[in-house]
Amino acid sequence: MAIPVQAEIDDKLRGEDLNTWLDLWRAEQGPAKPGALKLIAAAIPVPVDRSLRVLDVGCGTGDAGRAIHSRFPTARIDFVDRNEFFVALCDAVNRRGGITGQTLVRDLSEPNWQRDLATEYDVVVAVNTMHWFTLAKAAELLGDIFQSLRSGGVFLLMEPAGAAPRFALGFDTWKKQQPAQHKYEDWQHFWSRVNALVGYDYGFLGDPPDNQDRIGDGLSVMRWVGVLADAGFQSIDILLRDAEKVVLASVKP
Ligand SMILES: C[S@@+](CC[C@H](N)C(=O)[O-])C[C@H]1O[C@@H](n2cnc3c(N)ncnc32)[C@H](O)[C@@H]1O
Repeated sequence: MAIPVQAEIDDKLRGEDLNTWLDLWRAEQGPAKPGALKLIAAAIPVPVDRSLRVLDVGCGTGDAGRAIHSRFPTARIDFVDRNEFFVALCDAVNRRGGITGQTLVRDLSEPNWQRDLATEYDVVVAVNTMHWFTLAKAAELLGDIFQSLRSGGVFLLMEPAGAAPRFALGFDTWKKQQPAQHKYEDWQHFWSRVNALVGYDYGFLGDPPDNQDRIGDGLSVMRWVGVLADAGFQSIDILLRDAEKVVLASVKP
């Protein structure tokens, strides 16, 4: 069956309770995520009445962009993702919340993914998106993001992270003893509801086809820092590191 176009999904979502969908996604994403998103929003070093231009890359349902909007209510926020269901849901929730900006279907693996977007963003945020790509492609995307920011603009990144090879075994052993962040049933619940609503099975449950070379969840924090530094970012800071992920903040000089 063909992937439904966004207008078809928009129609189907019209009769839906959007909060129920956000709750399903929240459950799928695990209990630690909202706090990390608050940190991302809190770290943006500008007064809250500034009308920021923000881009949420690989937005999914738009959690990260909206976390920034809740601290900067006049921010204009653009959202991009390749998954039509996410984009339709994100757009519906944004319209309900009076968030201005564009919500667009864009495939980050295509060279022109930035078409119709701004070039002087104050803030770009990417949450759990870059690790789906190879290191080479992620480096390229970070270069694109660097270009899309104004000088002094801030890039915030949250991604799964492992430990450096010397410490990986011990870290992974410890990690297995930490409270689980994700339950398979929640993941299945979300995507089976999507399938039931739009009549399409997004295959590997909304994520890109399995790619053996993708970064995955094992890249160490310092390697992530290095990837940002290689793209030209400065003032890089590790705002948070827990069993599963890292949150990095950085500035375009
Ligand atoms: C784990 S989800 C995170 C979504 C969102 N940032 C959040 O925190 O809820 C990963 C996202 O990356 C998106 N993604 C993966 N590959 C992509 C690509 N090639 N182009 C655009 N988006 C992509 C997926 O569609 C999905 O929305």
